[in-house]
Amino acid sequence: MSGSSLILALESSCDETAGAIVRDGRDVLGQFVASQIDLHRAYGGVVPEVACRAHMECLLPGVDTLLREANVRPDDLDAVAVTNRPGLIGALLVGVSAAKALAFGWEKPLIGVDHIEGHIAAAGLAEPELTTPYIALVVSGGHTNLYLVEDSRQGVGDMTCLASTLDDAAGEAFDKAAKLLGLGFPGGPRIEKAAVGGNPKAYNWKNACLPPDGENFTFSGLKTAVMYAARGRAGRKGPLLLDEAGVKNAAASFQEAVTHALVERAMSAATKRGVKWLARGGGVAANGYLRSALQRAATEQGIRVAIPPMSLCTDNAVMIAARAHVLFTSGVRDELDLETVAR
Ligand code: KG4
Ligand code: ZN
Repeated sequence: MSGSSLILALESSCDETAGAIVRDGRDVLGQFVASQIDLHRAYGGVVPEVACRAHMECLLPGVDTLLREANVRPDDLDAVAVTNRPGLIGALLVGVSAAKALAFGWEKPLIGVDHIEGHIAAAGLAEPELTTPYIALVVSGGHTNLYLVEDSRQGVGDMTCLASTLDDAAGEAFDKAAKLLGLGFPGGPRIEKAAVGGNPKAYNWKNACLPPDGENFTFSGLKTAVMYAARGRAGRKGPLLLDEAGVKNAAASFQEAVTHALVERAMSAATKRGVKWLARGGGVAANGYLRSALQRAATEQGIRVAIPPMSLCTDNAVMIAARAHVLFTSGVRDELDLETVAR
């Protein structure tokens, strides 16, 4: 990829307020991620209004500190980038409004970035050898998508969506299942921890996430199965019927079912098209059980897997800067009327 850039990127699409200053889409001069998990824990999930307020409180002070600590003057920057789609609309608006104000005040170009393309760019950051065409699996609290990436522009330009969820996202299913099992929020890491030592075959949920269409994903049936296992006929509000070992078995079986579906669909997409690389992104990609299962399956087929480090799997602004660098050096610029899109 040609051209150099120094980009300030902002990310506020969900419940993490993040900023980063990155040179050439790769060298991180500084970054911050202010997690709102503690604020949302009391509600058992992300509350949009709470997220907006926290973004407003954290974003500009975060940028101030970031510039100071990275020893970068606004004048040094080539562009201001921001996630403008998809996400919680109010949360996105905080970042987009701030980015517009900064770009206008500093007289710098503005670049809107797609959050999912950012997650995919994170895989390229971790694995410089990643080459197109490849299959990208993006699994987070809001998305469960498989893409065929065919572009040579660092691999995140031309994406064809091959499969997605018919209902809940995988991360959302982790969060809901954890709640049903009394494990708290955020669900992903809690289920992963509880599953250690549990029996992944205790419940026969293996195929629950594979709809008969042979292509997409479904997670709502699995969620219902967890509900009956954990709370019986009383449903969601009933008391937890499982002891500690039972919770571990349910968590392990749940994790096994989600993993089986993600690995099955990703591998079948990759082998059908004969691609040599598989990239993963999104919060659920931080799951160690899924990591090993995917790695095992890919190695068997001679496919290499690009896996971002944990810190780049969950929401961050470095991945937004990485994607913005590709856009910037390709000549993409946005105007101050840049739109904010929820879906
Ligand atoms: O990508 P992300 O940080 O935010 C969105 O764009 O949604 O993903 C957050 C999601 C949450 O649902 C969280 O439970 C899940 O990623 N997650 C995990 C793990 N860590 C985070 N899921 C499974 N295992 C994990 N270790
Ligand atoms: Zn995300």
